[in-house]
Amino acid sequence: MTEKTAIGIDIGGTGIKGGVIDLATGDLVSERVKVATPEGGRPDDIIETTREILHQLAPDDHTLPIGVCFPAVIKNGRTMSAANVSKKWIGLAAEELFEKGLGAPIHFVNDADAAGYAEAQFGAARGVTGVVVLTTLGTGIGSALINDGVLVPNTEFGHLEIDGHDAESKASNAARVREDLDWKRWAKRLQRYYETLEMLLSPDLILVGGGVSRSYEEFLPLLDLKTPIKPAVHRNNAGILGSAALANRFPG
Ligand code: BGC
Repeated sequence: MTEKTAIGIDIGGTGIKGGVIDLATGDLVSERVKVATPEGGRPDDIIETTREILHQLAPDDHTLPIGVCFPAVIKNGRTMSAANVSKKWIGLAAEELFEKGLGAPIHFVNDADAAGYAEAQFGAARGVTGVVVLTTLGTGIGSALINDGVLVPNTEFGHLEIDGHDAESKASNAARVREDLDWKRWAKRLQRYYETLEMLLSPDLILVGGGVSRSYEEFLPLLDLKTPIKPAVHRNNAGILGSAALANRFPG
């Protein structure tokens, strides 16, 4: 592999995914390894699974930059929240623990921020001026806020309180599946969610990521917003891609 590659690992509440990325093009140049998140999402188990994924991706090459993204507020290498993983993560010096477990320096970042960075570098937010909000609709709702290409980290707009509920508990893709909502009923909830974001942020563009955005034609046309809303380009690989690109830019 050339020196223009880096490893990205995306830890989610449901699955942990990894891949090697060509940083010039944003293409995946390895297989995409995916393993279920260990039951309970506890630190030791997740770090061990991450180690196994890293070993599969680069058994012999220990020189590539490694980026790891995680579904929590990340402040100075510490995980400050834990919405869809064990509460044991709260306050943990997680970056250091990953580095010990993996035996290598990492760049550590919130998963939606990684996805937002990927879209700004290689996707639907590339070259866009003004305010872009990326939301990932998955187990939770992740958010990334980008102004003129610059990311403002840890926004956590998935946890806005809307009509007395934590927004992601009603409008995430997991909520759609859990409650067996058809597209129309889910879109009603998305409408409430995105009109709230619109009211608070006056964005120039809203991007929708997460695996379900593959089916964007089923639900985006049902929304009535003032802001253009589009599917993200990288969907399920955006976290891998963004964390790899950040690791290359800010080596651990
Ligand atoms: C977490 C965020 C994360 C999002 C998507 C939310 O529950 O609080 O940190 O970005 O899920 O995984």
